[in-house]
Amino acid sequence: MELTSTYWNNRYAEGNTGWDLKEVSPPIKAYLDQLENKELKILIPGGGYSYEAQYCWEQGFKNVYVVDFSQLALENLKQRVPGFPSEQLIQEDFFTYDGQFDVIIEQTFFCALQPDLRPDYVAHMHALLKPEGKLVGLLFNFPLTEKGPPYGGSTTAYESLFSKHFDIQKIETAYNSIAARADKELFIKMVKK
Ligand SMILES: C[S@@+](CC[C@H](N)C(=O)[O-])C[C@H]1O[C@@H](n2cnc3c(N)ncnc32)[C@H](O)[C@@H]1O
Repeated sequence: MELTSTYWNNRYAEGNTGWDLKEVSPPIKAYLDQLENKELKILIPGGGYSYEAQYCWEQGFKNVYVVDFSQLALENLKQRVPGFPSEQLIQEDFFTYDGQFDVIIEQTFFCALQPDLRPDYVAHMHALLKPEGKLVGLLFNFPLTEKGPPYGGSTTAYESLFSKHFDIQKIETAYNSIAARADKELFIKMVKK
């Protein structure tokens, strides 16, 4: 099965969106709440309905961008938050998108990709960050199998995958996950090398 834009768009069309929390993910909310600089340029790739982007916007982070190749996902966000600038809702493949950001938020995007794309994901995240830019968010910590999405992984595997391009400041079981994800997600904070 190829995880194309059509595949994802169809899942939104069918309402087959088990990943959708319908609210900002609590560990990401906690991270955003302690940021003081509202000028930070923030990217949320594979953002989907992106309650995280909505939360950023409503908290005064106006330089927040979402990249997702599903039109339906972006339309939903635009309808919920009409003031969100259309030019900051980008319908494009993450791997061809170009830009420079202070912070990139990871929330069920990495796990949605075919695992063989993981080295490209890491390299492209690195390219999208400004010097000392940060990749922050959540990665699942259940075993990686052929069955997915979502595709899992482990702390050890993530450390070896990311350490070439990032200083890993934090990779630890999130203490504030929603109940259904308790102990299943790792909070990460990585700084571009
Ligand atoms: C599992 S969903 C997660 C959505 C959102 N992060 C959330 O937590 O609700 C994965 C999202 O990634 C998007 N996506 C997958 N591969 C992509 C790619 N190569 N470029 C852009 N978006 C992609 C899909 O369209 C989908 O919206």
